[in-house]
Amino acid sequence: MAPPSAPATSSDYDRLRELKAFDATKAGVKGLVDAGITTVPRIFHHAVPAVESDELSSPRRPRHGVAGSRVPVIDLTASRSDLVAQVKAAAETAGFFQVVNHGVPDELLAETLASVRRFHEEPADAKKRYYNRDPTPTPSVRYVSNFDLYQSPAANWRDTLFMLMSPAPPEEEVPPACRGIVSDYTPQVRKLAATLLELLSEAMDLPRTYLEEHEAGCLDAVLGHYYPPCPEPCRTMGTTRHCDPTFLTVLLQDSVGGLQVHIDGVWVDVPPVPGALVVNIGDFLQVVSNDRFKSVEHRVLAMAGGPRVSVACFFRKRDSTRVYHPIVTQPDDERPRYRGITVPEYLGYYMDKGLDGRSKLEHFRRPLGSGKRLRSIIGDCGGGAPVQIDAHVWRKCVDVAPSQAAWCRATPRASPRRRPESSVACSASTAPPAGSGGRNGAIAATSRASSAASSSSSLPPSYSATVKVTPSPGR
Ligand code: OGA
Ligand code: NI
Repeated sequence: MAPPSAPATSSDYDRLRELKAFDATKAGVKGLVDAGITTVPRIFHHAVPAVESDELSSPRRPRHGVAGSRVPVIDLTASRSDLVAQVKAAAETAGFFQVVNHGVPDELLAETLASVRRFHEEPADAKKRYYNRDPTPTPSVRYVSNFDLYQSPAANWRDTLFMLMSPAPPEEEVPPACRGIVSDYTPQVRKLAATLLELLSEAMDLPRTYLEEHEAGCLDAVLGHYYPPCPEPCRTMGTTRHCDPTFLTVLLQDSVGGLQVHIDGVWVDVPPVPGALVVNIGDFLQVVSNDRFKSVEHRVLAMAGGPRVSVACFFRKRDSTRVYHPIVTQPDDERPRYRGITVPEYLGYYMDKGLDGRSKLEHFRRPLGSGKRLRSIIGDCGGGAPVQIDAHVWRKCVDVAPSQAAWCRATPRASPRRRPESSVACSASTAPPAGSGGRNGAIAATSRASSAASSSSSLPPSYSATVKVTPSPGR
Protein backbone atom coordinates (compact mmCIF):
# COMPACT_ATOMS: atom_id res chain seq x y z
CA MET A 1 0.00 0.00 0.00
CA ALA A 2 1.38 3.39 -0.92
CA PRO A 3 1.70 5.99 1.79
CA PRO A 4 -1.48 7.92 2.32
CA SER A 5 -1.93 11.43 1.04
CA ALA A 6 -0.99 13.99 3.62
CA PRO A 7 -2.37 17.47 4.03
CA ALA A 8 -0.33 20.49 3.18
CA THR A 9 1.30 21.81 6.32
CA SER A 10 2.63 25.19 7.24
CA SER A 11 2.76 27.07 10.48
CA ASP A 12 0.19 29.63 9.41
CA TYR A 13 -2.25 27.05 8.13
CA ASP A 14 -5.19 26.45 10.42
CA ARG A 15 -6.62 23.46 8.63
CA LEU A 16 -9.54 22.89 10.97
CA ARG A 17 -10.64 26.50 10.66
CA GLU A 18 -10.53 26.27 6.86
CA LEU A 19 -12.42 23.00 6.85
CA LYS A 20 -15.12 24.50 9.04
CA ALA A 21 -15.38 27.61 6.89
CA PHE A 22 -15.77 25.47 3.76
CA ASP A 23 -18.32 23.20 5.45
CA ALA A 24 -20.31 26.17 6.72
CA THR A 25 -20.94 27.39 3.16
CA LYS A 26 -23.03 24.22 2.58
CA ALA A 27 -22.33 24.85 -1.09
CA GLY A 28 -19.69 22.19 -1.62
CA VAL A 29 -16.87 22.24 -4.15
CA LYS A 30 -19.40 23.39 -6.74
CA GLY A 31 -19.84 26.55 -4.64
CA LEU A 32 -16.10 27.27 -4.84
CA VAL A 33 -16.10 26.84 -8.60
CA ASP A 34 -19.20 29.03 -8.99
CA ALA A 35 -17.43 31.70 -6.95
CA GLY A 36 -14.75 31.77 -9.64
CA ILE A 37 -11.90 30.17 -7.71
CA THR A 38 -8.73 29.86 -9.80
CA THR A 39 -6.53 27.88 -7.41
CA VAL A 40 -7.25 24.81 -5.30
CA PRO A 41 -7.52 25.69 -1.58
CA ARG A 42 -5.03 23.98 0.72
CA ILE A 43 -7.58 21.70 2.38
CA PHE A 44 -7.80 19.89 -0.97
CA HIS A 45 -4.07 19.55 -1.54
CA HIS A 46 -2.80 15.99 -1.76
CA ALA A 47 0.83 15.39 -0.92
CA VAL A 48 1.25 12.71 -3.59
CA PRO A 49 0.26 14.15 -6.94
CA ALA A 50 -1.85 11.73 -8.91
CA VAL A 51 -0.37 12.16 -12.36
CA GLU A 52 1.61 14.52 -14.49
CA SER A 53 -0.31 17.59 -15.56
CA ASP A 54 -0.25 16.72 -19.27
CA GLU A 55 -2.26 13.60 -18.53
CA LEU A 56 -5.13 15.70 -17.32
CA SER A 57 -6.28 17.09 -20.64
CA SER A 58 -9.99 17.18 -21.09
CA PRO A 59 -11.96 15.32 -22.22
CA ARG A 60 -9.73 12.58 -20.92
CA ARG A 61 -8.67 9.93 -23.41
CA PRO A 62 -8.16 6.50 -21.90
CA ARG A 63 -4.58 5.43 -22.40
CA HIS A 64 -5.41 1.87 -23.26
CA GLY A 65 -8.74 2.21 -25.05
CA VAL A 66 -11.62 -0.11 -24.30
CA ALA A 67 -10.19 -3.08 -26.18
CA GLY A 68 -6.78 -2.88 -24.51
CA SER A 69 -8.15 -2.17 -21.03
CA ARG A 70 -7.44 -4.67 -18.30
CA VAL A 71 -10.95 -4.09 -17.04
CA PRO A 72 -13.01 -6.56 -19.05
CA VAL A 73 -16.33 -5.75 -20.69
CA ILE A 74 -18.78 -8.61 -20.20
CA ASP A 75 -21.78 -9.05 -22.47
CA LEU A 76 -24.59 -10.41 -20.32
CA THR A 77 -26.22 -12.14 -23.28
CA ALA A 78 -23.43 -14.77 -23.28
CA SER A 79 -24.23 -18.33 -22.17
CA ARG A 80 -24.50 -18.94 -18.43
CA SER A 81 -21.36 -21.05 -18.23
CA ASP A 82 -19.40 -18.41 -20.15
CA LEU A 83 -20.74 -15.73 -17.86
CA VAL A 84 -19.75 -17.59 -14.71
CA ALA A 85 -16.26 -18.08 -16.13
CA GLN A 86 -15.89 -14.44 -17.20
CA VAL A 87 -17.24 -13.00 -13.97
CA LYS A 88 -15.06 -15.35 -11.97
CA ALA A 89 -11.93 -14.38 -13.90
CA ALA A 90 -12.68 -10.67 -13.50
CA ALA A 91 -13.47 -11.01 -9.78
CA GLU A 92 -10.24 -12.91 -9.19
CA THR A 93 -8.00 -10.47 -11.04
CA ALA A 94 -9.05 -6.88 -11.75
CA GLY A 95 -11.91 -6.95 -9.24
CA PHE A 96 -13.65 -4.64 -11.75
CA PHE A 97 -15.58 -5.28 -14.91
CA GLN A 98 -18.07 -3.48 -17.09
CA VAL A 99 -21.34 -5.04 -18.18
CA VAL A 100 -23.25 -4.40 -21.40
CA ASN A 101 -26.62 -5.75 -22.52
CA HIS A 102 -27.62 -5.68 -18.88
CA GLY A 103 -31.24 -4.78 -19.49
CA VAL A 104 -31.21 -1.22 -18.12
CA PRO A 105 -32.31 1.00 -21.03
CA ASP A 106 -29.89 3.64 -22.31
CA GLU A 107 -32.47 6.40 -21.83
CA LEU A 108 -32.82 5.49 -18.16
CA LEU A 109 -29.04 5.62 -17.71
CA ALA A 110 -28.93 9.03 -19.39
CA GLU A 111 -31.84 10.34 -17.34
CA THR A 112 -30.25 9.08 -14.09
CA LEU A 113 -27.01 10.94 -14.82
CA ALA A 114 -28.95 14.03 -15.92
CA SER A 115 -31.00 14.11 -12.75
CA VAL A 116 -27.94 13.92 -10.48
CA ARG A 117 -26.40 16.72 -12.50
CA ARG A 118 -29.61 18.75 -12.23
CA PHE A 119 -29.59 18.41 -8.46
CA HIS A 120 -25.99 19.54 -8.08
CA GLU A 121 -26.47 22.42 -10.50
CA GLU A 122 -29.43 23.86 -8.64
CA PRO A 123 -28.78 27.15 -6.86
CA ALA A 124 -26.83 26.72 -3.62
CA ASP A 125 -29.83 27.92 -1.60
CA ALA A 126 -32.01 25.12 -2.94
CA LYS A 127 -29.46 22.44 -1.97
CA LYS A 128 -28.59 23.82 1.47
CA ARG A 129 -31.52 22.22 3.22
CA TYR A 130 -30.17 18.78 2.32
CA TYR A 131 -26.63 19.50 3.48
CA ASN A 132 -25.84 17.21 6.42
CA ARG A 133 -22.87 15.14 7.57
CA ASP A 134 -24.58 13.43 10.47
CA PRO A 135 -23.42 9.80 10.50
CA THR A 136 -26.80 8.50 11.76
CA PRO A 137 -29.07 6.94 9.15
CA THR A 138 -31.53 9.82 9.30
CA PRO A 139 -32.23 11.83 7.29
CA SER A 140 -32.05 9.27 4.56
CA VAL A 141 -31.32 11.85 1.86
CA ARG A 142 -28.24 13.97 2.36
CA TYR A 143 -26.09 16.22 0.28
CA VAL A 144 -22.53 16.61 1.48
CA SER A 145 -19.08 17.49 0.24
CA ASN A 146 -16.58 14.88 1.48
CA PHE A 147 -18.32 12.58 4.00
CA ASP A 148 -14.92 12.34 5.71
CA LEU A 149 -13.98 16.03 5.58
CA TYR A 150 -12.74 16.04 9.19
CA GLN A 151 -11.12 12.58 9.15
CA SER A 152 -9.22 12.40 5.89
CA PRO A 153 -5.79 13.98 5.47
CA ALA A 154 -6.84 15.77 2.27
CA ALA A 155 -10.26 16.65 0.91
CA ASN A 156 -11.54 15.53 -2.49
CA TRP A 157 -12.80 17.66 -5.36
CA ARG A 158 -16.27 16.16 -5.19
CA ASP A 159 -19.79 16.68 -3.83
CA THR A 160 -22.26 13.86 -3.21
CA LEU A 161 -25.99 13.36 -2.96
CA PHE A 162 -26.47 10.34 -0.69
CA MET A 163 -29.74 8.39 -0.61
CA LEU A 164 -30.20 5.63 1.92
CA MET A 165 -32.34 2.91 0.35
CA SER A 166 -32.71 0.43 3.18
CA PRO A 167 -34.76 -0.61 5.04
CA ALA A 168 -37.10 1.30 2.71
CA PRO A 169 -36.43 3.74 -0.11
CA PRO A 170 -36.89 7.39 0.80
CA GLU A 171 -40.03 9.07 -0.51
CA GLU A 172 -40.88 12.76 -0.17
CA GLU A 173 -37.35 13.51 1.07
CA VAL A 174 -35.90 12.78 -2.37
CA PRO A 175 -35.19 16.08 -4.16
CA PRO A 176 -37.67 16.47 -7.01
CA ALA A 177 -34.79 16.39 -9.52
CA CYS A 178 -33.93 12.82 -8.49
CA ARG A 179 -37.29 11.09 -7.90
CA GLY A 180 -36.88 8.97 -11.04
CA ILE A 181 -33.67 7.45 -9.71
CA VAL A 182 -35.51 5.89 -6.79
CA SER A 183 -38.65 4.91 -8.70
CA ASP A 184 -37.18 3.71 -12.01
CA TYR A 185 -33.41 3.23 -11.92
CA THR A 186 -32.80 1.49 -8.60
CA PRO A 187 -35.29 -1.39 -9.13
CA GLN A 188 -33.47 -2.25 -12.35
CA VAL A 189 -30.02 -2.05 -10.81
CA ARG A 190 -31.28 -4.18 -7.94
CA LYS A 191 -32.32 -6.84 -10.49
CA LEU A 192 -28.96 -6.64 -12.22
CA ALA A 193 -27.16 -7.09 -8.90
CA ALA A 194 -29.26 -10.20 -8.18
CA THR A 195 -28.09 -11.69 -11.48
CA LEU A 196 -24.47 -10.78 -10.77
CA LEU A 197 -24.62 -12.25 -7.27
CA GLU A 198 -25.94 -15.52 -8.70
CA LEU A 199 -23.00 -15.65 -11.09
CA LEU A 200 -20.57 -14.81 -8.30
CA SER A 201 -22.08 -17.45 -6.00
CA GLU A 202 -21.62 -20.04 -8.71
CA ALA A 203 -18.11 -18.77 -9.33
CA MET A 204 -17.38 -19.56 -5.68
CA ASP A 205 -18.85 -23.06 -6.06
CA LEU A 206 -21.73 -22.10 -3.81
CA PRO A 207 -25.44 -22.55 -4.47
CA ARG A 208 -26.71 -19.95 -6.92
CA THR A 209 -28.83 -18.18 -4.30
CA TYR A 210 -26.16 -18.15 -1.61
CA LEU A 211 -25.05 -14.50 -1.68
CA GLU A 212 -28.56 -13.17 -2.14
CA GLU A 213 -29.73 -15.25 0.83
CA HIS A 214 -26.92 -13.78 2.86
CA GLU A 215 -28.13 -10.22 2.29
CA ALA A 216 -25.42 -9.30 -0.21
CA GLY A 217 -28.04 -8.07 -2.67
CA CYS A 218 -29.57 -5.45 -0.41
CA LEU A 219 -29.36 -2.05 -2.11
CA ASP A 220 -28.20 0.03 0.81
CA ALA A 221 -27.37 3.40 -0.68
CA VAL A 222 -27.20 5.41 -3.87
CA LEU A 223 -24.47 8.02 -4.16
CA GLY A 224 -24.83 10.69 -6.82
CA HIS A 225 -21.34 12.15 -7.22
CA TYR A 226 -20.54 15.45 -8.89
CA TYR A 227 -16.94 16.30 -9.76
CA PRO A 228 -16.76 20.00 -10.72
CA PRO A 229 -14.09 21.13 -13.19
CA CYS A 230 -10.88 21.71 -11.28
CA PRO A 231 -8.56 24.70 -11.87
CA GLU A 232 -5.43 22.80 -10.70
CA PRO A 233 -6.12 19.09 -11.18
CA CYS A 234 -2.56 18.10 -10.25
CA ARG A 235 -2.95 19.35 -6.72
CA THR A 236 -5.95 17.28 -5.70
CA MET A 237 -8.07 14.19 -6.36
CA GLY A 238 -11.69 13.59 -7.34
CA THR A 239 -11.75 10.58 -5.04
CA THR A 240 -8.78 9.31 -3.01
CA ARG A 241 -7.71 5.71 -3.58
CA HIS A 242 -9.99 3.36 -1.65
CA CYS A 243 -11.82 0.05 -1.73
CA ASP A 244 -15.58 -0.07 -1.35
CA PRO A 245 -17.19 -1.15 1.95
CA THR A 246 -19.77 -3.19 0.05
CA PHE A 247 -20.37 -6.65 -1.33
CA LEU A 248 -20.79 -5.21 -4.77
CA THR A 249 -20.88 -1.73 -6.26
CA VAL A 250 -22.65 -0.95 -9.52
CA LEU A 251 -21.44 2.35 -10.93
CA LEU A 252 -22.87 4.45 -13.72
CA GLN A 253 -20.35 6.96 -15.07
CA ASP A 254 -20.77 9.61 -17.73
CA SER A 255 -18.42 10.04 -20.68
CA VAL A 256 -15.82 12.29 -19.00
CA GLY A 257 -13.52 9.57 -17.58
CA GLY A 258 -11.05 9.76 -14.71
CA LEU A 259 -11.93 6.54 -12.86
CA GLN A 260 -8.87 4.32 -12.39
CA VAL A 261 -8.19 0.97 -10.72
CA HIS A 262 -4.93 -0.18 -9.24
CA ILE A 263 -3.87 -3.42 -10.90
CA ASP A 264 -0.44 -4.94 -10.33
CA GLY A 265 0.93 -1.63 -9.08
CA VAL A 266 -0.31 0.37 -12.07
CA TRP A 267 -3.26 2.75 -12.29
CA VAL A 268 -5.45 1.57 -15.14
CA ASP A 269 -8.27 3.61 -16.68
CA VAL A 270 -11.83 2.37 -16.56
CA PRO A 271 -12.79 3.92 -19.88
CA PRO A 272 -16.37 5.13 -20.27
CA VAL A 273 -18.25 2.66 -22.47
CA PRO A 274 -21.58 3.95 -23.80
CA GLY A 275 -24.45 2.03 -22.21
CA ALA A 276 -22.20 0.07 -19.83
CA LEU A 277 -22.33 -0.20 -16.07
CA VAL A 278 -19.15 -0.62 -14.05
CA VAL A 279 -19.21 -3.37 -11.43
CA ASN A 280 -16.69 -3.86 -8.68
CA ILE A 281 -16.14 -6.41 -5.96
CA GLY A 282 -16.33 -4.83 -2.50
CA ASP A 283 -14.57 -5.64 0.75
CA PHE A 284 -17.28 -8.00 2.08
CA LEU A 285 -16.99 -10.23 -0.98
CA GLN A 286 -13.24 -10.32 -0.54
CA VAL A 287 -13.80 -11.46 3.05
CA VAL A 288 -16.38 -14.15 2.35
CA SER A 289 -14.39 -15.45 -0.63
CA ASN A 290 -11.31 -15.59 1.62
CA ASP A 291 -9.32 -13.34 -0.76
CA ARG A 292 -10.25 -15.24 -3.91
CA PHE A 293 -12.25 -12.25 -5.13
CA LYS A 294 -10.44 -8.95 -5.06
CA SER A 295 -11.80 -5.71 -3.70
CA VAL A 296 -9.46 -3.53 -5.69
CA GLU A 297 -8.36 0.00 -4.94
CA HIS A 298 -9.69 2.67 -7.22
CA ARG A 299 -9.69 6.44 -7.41
CA VAL A 300 -11.03 9.29 -9.49
CA LEU A 301 -8.71 11.94 -10.92
CA ALA A 302 -9.63 15.57 -10.62
CA MET A 303 -10.15 16.94 -14.09
CA ALA A 304 -9.86 20.35 -15.72
CA GLY A 305 -12.87 19.53 -17.86
CA GLY A 306 -16.23 18.32 -16.83
CA PRO A 307 -18.18 18.39 -14.63
CA ARG A 308 -18.14 14.63 -14.26
CA VAL A 309 -21.16 12.82 -12.86
CA SER A 310 -21.37 9.26 -11.55
CA VAL A 311 -23.96 7.25 -9.64
CA ALA A 312 -22.78 4.47 -7.34
CA CYS A 313 -25.16 1.82 -5.97
CA PHE A 314 -23.77 0.19 -2.82
CA PHE A 315 -24.93 -3.35 -2.04
CA ARG A 316 -24.78 -4.38 1.64
CA LYS A 317 -27.19 -4.33 4.57
CA ARG A 318 -26.03 -1.69 7.00
CA ASP A 319 -28.02 -2.84 10.01
CA SER A 320 -27.45 -6.55 9.55
CA THR A 321 -26.42 -8.51 12.66
CA ARG A 322 -24.98 -11.30 10.52
CA VAL A 323 -21.32 -12.12 11.11
CA TYR A 324 -19.56 -12.71 7.80
CA HIS A 325 -16.78 -15.26 7.89
CA PRO A 326 -14.50 -16.34 5.08
CA ILE A 327 -15.85 -19.40 3.33
CA VAL A 328 -12.95 -21.76 2.84
CA THR A 329 -13.76 -23.82 -0.25
CA GLN A 330 -10.40 -24.35 -1.89
CA PRO A 331 -8.31 -27.36 -0.92
CA ASP A 332 -5.21 -25.16 -0.76
CA ASP A 333 -6.92 -22.58 1.46
CA GLU A 334 -5.51 -23.51 4.78
CA ARG A 335 -7.44 -21.17 6.99
CA PRO A 336 -9.83 -18.23 7.12
CA ARG A 337 -7.82 -15.09 6.49
CA TYR A 338 -10.17 -12.69 8.24
CA ARG A 339 -11.96 -12.72 11.50
CA GLY A 340 -15.74 -12.57 11.40
CA ILE A 341 -17.08 -9.10 10.58
CA THR A 342 -20.51 -7.51 10.79
CA VAL A 343 -21.47 -4.80 8.34
CA PRO A 344 -22.11 -2.17 11.06
CA GLU A 345 -18.77 -2.91 12.68
CA TYR A 346 -16.93 -2.56 9.39
CA LEU A 347 -18.77 0.59 8.37
CA GLY A 348 -18.05 2.12 11.78
CA TYR A 349 -14.34 1.52 11.31
CA TYR A 350 -14.41 2.73 7.71
CA MET A 351 -16.25 5.97 8.51
CA ASP A 352 -14.02 6.63 11.46
CA LYS A 353 -10.90 6.53 9.32
CA GLY A 354 -12.30 8.12 6.16
CA LEU A 355 -10.51 7.95 2.83
CA ASP A 356 -6.95 8.10 4.12
CA GLY A 357 -5.32 6.00 1.42
CA ARG A 358 -4.96 3.00 3.72
CA SER A 359 -6.63 -0.37 3.47
CA LYS A 360 -9.46 -0.86 5.94
CA LEU A 361 -9.70 -4.60 5.36
CA GLU A 362 -6.20 -5.21 6.67
CA HIS A 363 -7.41 -4.25 10.14
CA PHE A 364 -9.60 -7.36 10.13
CA ARG A 365 -7.08 -9.71 8.58
CA ARG A 366 -5.76 -12.46 10.80
CA PRO A 367 -1.99 -12.12 10.92
CA LEU A 368 -0.52 -14.05 8.03
CA GLY A 369 1.55 -17.03 8.85
CA SER A 370 0.97 -17.20 12.57
CA GLY A 371 -1.14 -20.33 12.23
CA LYS A 372 1.77 -21.85 10.36
CA ARG A 373 4.18 -20.55 12.94
CA LEU A 374 2.24 -22.16 15.74
CA ARG A 375 2.09 -25.41 13.85
CA SER A 376 5.81 -25.36 13.43
CA ILE A 377 6.31 -24.67 17.13
CA ILE A 378 4.04 -27.54 17.93
CA GLY A 379 5.77 -29.75 15.41
CA ASP A 380 9.16 -28.91 16.89
CA CYS A 381 8.25 -29.77 20.42
CA GLY A 382 7.42 -33.28 19.27
CA GLY A 383 4.46 -33.70 21.58
CA GLY A 384 4.30 -33.83 25.31
CA ALA A 385 6.58 -30.95 26.24
CA PRO A 386 4.93 -27.62 26.93
CA VAL A 387 6.21 -24.66 24.90
CA GLN A 388 5.91 -20.96 25.51
CA ILE A 389 4.32 -18.95 22.76
CA ASP A 390 3.73 -15.25 22.76
CA ALA A 391 0.36 -13.64 23.11
CA HIS A 392 -0.39 -12.84 19.49
CA VAL A 393 0.43 -16.36 18.43
CA TRP A 394 -1.74 -17.73 21.20
CA ARG A 395 -4.88 -16.62 19.46
CA LYS A 396 -3.89 -18.83 16.57
CA CYS A 397 -4.26 -21.95 18.66
CA VAL A 398 -7.53 -22.59 16.92
CA ASP A 399 -5.70 -22.95 13.63
CA VAL A 400 -3.86 -26.09 14.65
CA ALA A 401 -4.00 -28.58 11.81
CA PRO A 402 -6.49 -31.42 12.14
CA SER A 403 -3.62 -33.90 12.09
CA GLN A 404 -2.51 -32.69 15.49
CA ALA A 405 -4.18 -32.35 18.81
CA ALA A 406 -3.10 -29.59 21.07
CA TRP A 407 -3.99 -28.75 24.58
CA CYS A 408 -3.35 -25.14 25.39
CA ARG A 409 -3.17 -23.26 28.57
CA ALA A 410 -2.76 -19.54 28.82
CA THR A 411 -0.87 -18.48 31.87
CA PRO A 412 -0.95 -14.79 32.53
CA ARG A 413 2.19 -13.62 34.19
CA ALA A 414 1.91 -10.98 36.84
CA SER A 415 2.14 -7.57 35.25
CA PRO A 416 2.43 -4.32 37.15
CA ARG A 417 0.52 -2.52 34.37
CA ARG A 418 -2.49 -4.69 34.21
CA ARG A 419 -4.46 -7.16 36.23
CA PRO A 420 -4.04 -10.48 34.48
CA GLU A 421 -6.97 -11.97 32.64
CA SER A 422 -8.38 -15.02 34.23
CA SER A 423 -6.50 -18.01 33.00
CA VAL A 424 -7.81 -19.74 29.93
CA ALA A 425 -7.56 -23.36 29.04
CA CYS A 426 -8.79 -24.85 25.84
CA SER A 427 -8.51 -27.77 23.55
CA ALA A 428 -7.53 -26.25 20.29
CA SER A 429 -7.83 -28.59 17.41
CA THR A 430 -10.39 -30.52 15.47
CA ALA A 431 -9.09 -33.65 17.15
CA PRO A 432 -8.93 -32.77 20.83
CA PRO A 433 -7.75 -35.15 23.52
CA ALA A 434 -10.11 -37.97 24.38
CA GLY A 435 -12.92 -36.93 26.66
CA SER A 436 -12.76 -33.24 25.85
CA GLY A 437 -15.92 -33.19 23.81
CA GLY A 438 -14.85 -34.11 20.28
CA ARG A 439 -15.49 -31.59 17.55
CA ASN A 440 -18.00 -29.69 19.64
CA GLY A 441 -15.38 -29.31 22.30
CA ALA A 442 -13.07 -27.78 19.74
CA ILE A 443 -15.68 -25.31 18.61
CA ALA A 444 -16.41 -24.24 22.17
CA ALA A 445 -12.70 -23.83 22.64
CA THR A 446 -12.56 -21.61 19.56
CA SER A 447 -14.93 -19.14 21.04
CA ARG A 448 -13.14 -19.11 24.36
CA ALA A 449 -9.86 -18.67 22.60
CA SER A 450 -11.19 -15.80 20.53
CA SER A 451 -12.48 -14.00 23.57
CA ALA A 452 -8.96 -14.27 24.89
CA ALA A 453 -7.76 -13.14 21.47
CA SER A 454 -9.87 -10.01 21.49
CA SER A 455 -7.99 -8.81 24.52
CA SER A 456 -4.67 -10.23 23.43
CA SER A 457 -3.82 -7.31 21.15
CA SER A 458 -3.66 -5.10 24.22
CA LEU A 459 -1.97 -7.66 26.43
CA PRO A 460 1.38 -6.74 27.87
CA PRO A 461 4.30 -8.58 26.29
CA SER A 462 4.75 -10.61 29.44
CA TYR A 463 1.54 -12.47 28.76
CA SER A 464 2.26 -15.91 27.47
CA ALA A 465 0.64 -19.19 26.74
CA THR A 466 1.83 -22.70 27.20
CA VAL A 467 0.98 -25.23 24.55
CA LYS A 468 1.24 -28.91 25.21
CA VAL A 469 0.98 -31.14 22.22
CA THR A 470 -0.39 -34.61 22.09
CA PRO A 471 -0.25 -36.25 18.67
CA SER A 472 -3.72 -37.55 17.92
CA PRO A 473 -4.04 -41.31 17.68
CA GLY A 474 -3.73 -42.80 14.24
CA ARG A 475 -2.92 -39.58 12.30
C1 OGA B 1 -17.42 5.28 -4.98
C2 OGA B 1 -16.55 5.44 -6.16
C3 OGA B 1 -16.24 6.24 -8.38
C4 OGA B 1 -16.78 7.27 -9.31
O1 OGA B 1 -18.48 5.90 -4.91
O2 OGA B 1 -17.03 4.48 -4.09
O3 OGA B 1 -15.49 4.86 -6.18
O4 OGA B 1 -16.51 7.14 -10.50
N1 OGA B 1 -16.97 6.19 -7.17
O5 OGA B 1 -17.45 8.20 -8.86
NI1 NI C 1 -15.47 3.32 -4.72
